[in-house]
Amino acid sequence: MPRYVVGNWKMHTLRDEAVSLAEGVARGIRDLDPAEVVVGVAPPFPFLEAVGRAIAGSAVLLVAQDLHPEAQGAFTGAVSGPMLASLGVERVLVGHSERRSLFGEDDACVAAKLRGALAAGLDPILCVGERLAEREAGRQEAVVAAQLDAAFADLDPAARARLLVAYEPVWAIGTGVTATPEQAGAMHAFIRSHLGPAAPPILYGGSVKPKNASDLAATPGIDGFLVGGASLDADSFLAIVEGCRAAPRSE
Ligand code: PGA
Repeated sequence: MPRYVVGNWKMHTLRDEAVSLAEGVARGIRDLDPAEVVVGVAPPFPFLEAVGRAIAGSAVLLVAQDLHPEAQGAFTGAVSGPMLASLGVERVLVGHSERRSLFGEDDACVAAKLRGALAAGLDPILCVGERLAEREAGRQEAVVAAQLDAAFADLDPAARARLLVAYEPVWAIGTGVTATPEQAGAMHAFIRSHLGPAAPPILYGGSVKPKNASDLAATPGIDGFLVGGASLDADSFLAIVEGCRAAPRSE
């Protein structure tokens, strides 16, 4: 099974910056075997098409940051799964903690988006993770289990097989505080046992940087990364990709 490293650019870059960042990533992974590491970039919506052109012919996967659950309709400002698919998007983030906390997305909304993505032929990256207060109260596993259960309810095995899960402790996102390999490894093991034998690959996200990528990637159960801040610079993102590729596999 390959590892995965996906860069979530969030609401950063202007058009030309997005294109040159994408070109840098595509150039940097020219010699990388996608059977080892699958690399994706998730630019802002307006730049998906230009970034898609910049990475055409490379192994870089085009990923979107969000979608509306419905395929079309009177939803001013929203972007649907079929629209994304028509631009060549292959995967889409669903349930990122910023969507949950800043845009009021609850578990039902996340589940609807997941189904919208699958229906449009997009493979979802489902983000889950606890807040600091929840971890301090020892509730991190209960919180993540509830997020998983809401999203996975009624998904058939074929749909499950198309998912990636990203464990992103909210307290580690954009804070410079990374979960330790022990904390991340323990949660990945919990998620895997909760989802059972057909559990999808599980990525870690939250202040992944070139300096901590190798240790995290060598941790049993961590199948790759969802990278925010450090994905905005091609060199640091590529260093994380390389750290992930070179890390010994434990299974
Ligand atoms: P960060 O973001 O790497 O900047 O912490 C991770 C994410 O939100 O996916």
